[in-house]
Amino acid sequence: MRKKFICGNWKMFAPQWDGEIPSFSADKIVAVAPPFTELSRMAERLKGTGIQLAAQNVYFMDEGAYTGEVSASMLKNLGVSYCIVGHSERRGYFGETNEDCLKKIEKLAEFGIAAILCVGESLETREAGEEYSFVGTQVEAVFEHLSEAAAEKIVVAYEPIWAIGTGKTATAEQAQDMCAHIRATIAACRGADYAENVLIQYGGSVKPANAAELLGQDDIDGALVGGASLKPESFFGIVNY
Ligand code: PGA
Repeated sequence: MRKKFICGNWKMFAPQWDGEIPSFSADKIVAVAPPFTELSRMAERLKGTGIQLAAQNVYFMDEGAYTGEVSASMLKNLGVSYCIVGHSERRGYFGETNEDCLKKIEKLAEFGIAAILCVGESLETREAGEEYSFVGTQVEAVFEHLSEAAAEKIVVAYEPIWAIGTGKTATAEQAQDMCAHIRATIAACRGADYAENVLIQYGGSVKPANAAELLGQDDIDGALVGGASLKPESFFGIVNY
């Protein structure tokens, strides 16, 4: 039985989590990904809440002259358990490739950090009817090469780019169909038993009002939440959908 996993992604926004942090049932996994500069403060703040600390990015080298980058061991030292990899904003603005994603996921696994691999198509790709092959290729580029250690921990987030920050959510059917396709692609790479246990989140304008329908789909195991995670009221409206 797969657990539901809800992760907040604060992107480059100032945190607004100063009030009380609501509770949630222990059968769910809950995490938040603040900006790097807030990780240590949030690590303190989240103590005893059951909420896991996530990072938004990592570099795949151990250390060195890589100005502006942060390593997996640095994240580990701050208590990070999950790290978003290949978010469409990183792929789009910072040129992150599938190969970069794979290297990052493997480096994170060396330090026991689970990657949340983001995949998803643009509106143009969907309108051209190429969304399944596009997302399938993103999934294969990682799952065909993943080490056992990294495969044990990885989570996938299906985030159609046209639904991110736009208020335009994929319908539950569109999201379910793509998450099922992702699971089938993973099964083709590594076997059906393995694929059955991989957590697949949906992300893109998830809010309290649409969480129950999206999270009620067979192949949707959680949500990656941007805008609606900035305030605890709306984030926990999703967590406790
Ligand atoms: P959104 O962002 O919830 O604001 O659409 C989702 C994401 O980018 O992870």
